[in-house]
Amino acid sequence: MSLSHSEQITRVEHPVIARDLTILRDINTSTAQFRLAMKRIAIILAYHALKELPLNSFQVSTPIKETTGYDIAQPITVVPILRAGLGLTDALLQFIPNANVGHLGMYRDEKTLQPIDYYSNLPEDIEDAMVLVVDPMLATGGSADDALTFVKQKGAQHLRFISLISAPEGLKRLQEKHPDVRVITAAVDEKLNKDAYIVPGLGDAGDRYFGTI
Ligand code: PRP
Ligand code: URA
Repeated sequence: MSLSHSEQITRVEHPVIARDLTILRDINTSTAQFRLAMKRIAIILAYHALKELPLNSFQVSTPIKETTGYDIAQPITVVPILRAGLGLTDALLQFIPNANVGHLGMYRDEKTLQPIDYYSNLPEDIEDAMVLVVDPMLATGGSADDALTFVKQKGAQHLRFISLISAPEGLKRLQEKHPDVRVITAAVDEKLNKDAYIVPGLGDAGDRYFGTI
């Protein structure tokens, strides 16, 4: 399945997102404020990413009467790209507390800018699951491309990618390499700088989230 640009990319606009992105971008924001702002945005993105989940219906008894109830009919697997993707994971688990969580460890080599894989642990049986790969920053798209390729090789067929800030370069790469994967993002920034940081961006998301600056 190949999606058109407008079908593939959803940029979620919301006053809370506009306020919280500003908190994330601000160099003077503390680690504690940074974590909370990321979580609030992640909750709104999670709401959008999960909008089209299929439902099962069944009969349920209220204290008054029997009526039709619903449950989510598809298993969910959340796959944070370490480290910074961990900052988005809890928000998704608030909506789907029984979701499985797989982890992909990768970091960008500072010289080559290529992603280096150092860890993977995915649950079995992800063929039928909705697999949500999460990472706050989509810069060159190298990490997201690698992560999506890896989970597809493991059998995933229903994928979404959730990011806070995307660069046009990263979106283009996902459109070329993974046109079947819907992308839910809170911002599309101007460009990458010569070190492949997103401009204006927020700096290094993992370092700011974990306080390792
Ligand atoms: C950041 C970010 C993405 C990657 C994006 O991770 O969280 O994983 O860079 O860049 P790309 O689109 O050009 O691949 P980083 O390498 O800083 O690792 P960290 O999360 O462990 O700090
Ligand atoms: N990774 C980050 O954390 N920030 C960027 O701007 C680019 C890659």
